[in-house]
Amino acid sequence: MPIAGQDKRMADTERHPFLHGLSKHRGAPPTVVVIFGASGDLCARKLMPAIYNLGVDGLLPADFYLLGFGRKEIPDEEFRAHTAAAIKEFSRRELTEDVWSRLKARTFYVSGGYDEPAAFDRLAARIAGLEKGIGQELQTLFYISTPPSVFAPILANLGTSGLAARYVRKPNQSKVIIEKPFGRDLPSARALNHQMTSVFEEPQVYRIDHYLGKETVQDLLVQRFANAIFEPLWNRNYVDHVQITVAEEVGVGTRAGYYEQSGCLRDMIQNHAMQLLALTAMEAPVNLSAESIRDEKVKLLKAIQPFKLEGPNADLARAQYSEGFIGGQPASGYMQEKDISPTSSTESYAALRFNINNWRWHGVPFYLRSGKRMARRVSEIAIRFKGAPGALFAGSDKFALANNTLAFQIQPDEGMSLVLNAKIPGLETRTQPVKMNFKYSTTFGSNTAEAYERLVLDAMVGDSTLFIRGDETESSWALVTPILEYWKSKGRDGLDDYPVGSWGPKNSDALLVANGHVWREP
Ligand code: NDP
Ligand code: BG6
Repeated sequence: MPIAGQDKRMADTERHPFLHGLSKHRGAPPTVVVIFGASGDLCARKLMPAIYNLGVDGLLPADFYLLGFGRKEIPDEEFRAHTAAAIKEFSRRELTEDVWSRLKARTFYVSGGYDEPAAFDRLAARIAGLEKGIGQELQTLFYISTPPSVFAPILANLGTSGLAARYVRKPNQSKVIIEKPFGRDLPSARALNHQMTSVFEEPQVYRIDHYLGKETVQDLLVQRFANAIFEPLWNRNYVDHVQITVAEEVGVGTRAGYYEQSGCLRDMIQNHAMQLLALTAMEAPVNLSAESIRDEKVKLLKAIQPFKLEGPNADLARAQYSEGFIGGQPASGYMQEKDISPTSSTESYAALRFNINNWRWHGVPFYLRSGKRMARRVSEIAIRFKGAPGALFAGSDKFALANNTLAFQIQPDEGMSLVLNAKIPGLETRTQPVKMNFKYSTTFGSNTAEAYERLVLDAMVGDSTLFIRGDETESSWALVTPILEYWKSKGRDGLDDYPVGSWGPKNSDALLVANGHVWREP
């Protein structure tokens, strides 16, 4: 007999199969978004299109303003033309005159140095002018989208100009989104946290990790905690090991200046990949509040054992790509890329083995890898379960069997798959592994919101669930900083290579072989 509540839920889903409508609390108050570094690459490719698409969806408040800030003298009209061009080139939806004409009239530019106190006074005066024009106060959302070398002067000037302290008059009235990289090791992350929280209160700070804005990453929590079938299996009794892959097809491109100082561990693993790991392995939060979810992630990060840095049981591997082919075209190796130092020891690939020392995961290895110029762009989390007892289907080549594997495809082909063993149709019993697939694009359509849309909206409405808390970033830096120091001390010693277009270097296979495992080909 069906339970009444279940019937109702089913009926609701049938009436609104795609549930695209947003609830009322997603409305933001009158807001001015101030982007530092507004002439830059991130702003053009991600931030302007995100704001525009929020406008298309009717999610910007009626009193919304966009203020670009940067060192060059840029008249408002020129900044508007630049914004329109960026939206035309990078937005997932076409620029329409209707939405753009409203946004354009509310887009301005303030020129000045990031370390120039008078420029921040001009900025404050511009905001005050907008407020005067509409006769009410505006929430100010500062977006720091500059290279990290100017994070400190921007924060200092937001403090001394009084712009950061606007929240004193009304809680949450002033907020700051800060881009990655949030520090380059534990001491610098601590120092930046200290500076941030001497200027802003922690609830006003939104440390961005755009992977948390990806639909499939958010869906991880739903899959884990809204389905009763997974939880009983999600532990050391049933899980053999977990593999997390964040592979990129692109190389270092024109970003050598940044990447040579960063490398894969800082660029992808300390943040994006470790967030995927935390969401996969953490305990159920007591509720969906930002603090509860972030508490669980921090607890999980703290349960990770320090990595073994060397010896036959070392938990790490690093490498640079060497010449090879991608998409049938020859491609140069890392050392031949533009502006790479001839003695560079920067890793374009890193793999780690994590041991989580808690009740749930004791003894279950978590393998994590990320690299540039790999066989194809794919991010996935694969949970490999232990094998079924062999009593019935064993001892014959008629029974091809695989361990059950549940894989979350984060991108690009968003979905989930489950490998099961099935009988091959026919007059005798033979088995073969089969794959059950769920594709987002088939069920929900493919033109879904980009990560930055969700994240900018969340910051405007004051929801920090998908942002990183200060102690969280310090916990992940605490784990990777000893590796960074160790690799630095070794120079190119132990740095392997892998051909462009491959799935990575041999030294990373060794991390798994010790446990009888192999990397999957996603
Ligand atoms: P850019 O190098 O394009 O810089 C952004 C703007 O900052 C520039 O247009 C310039 O503006 C100003 N700027 C650049 N260099 C300096 C400098 N040395 N001193 C002072 N100001 C400078 O950066 P991105 O837009 O690529 O990235 C911005 C932030 O976002 C960075 O922290 C980056 O790590 C992060 N990020 C970027 C991603 C991307 O895909 N681009 C992805 C994820 C994170 P002006 O001259 O007008 O003052
Ligand atoms: C950024 C890194 O944070 O993420 C880049 O700095 C990387 O090096 C990018 O290419 C990958 O993001 P996505 O969303 O394309 O997987």
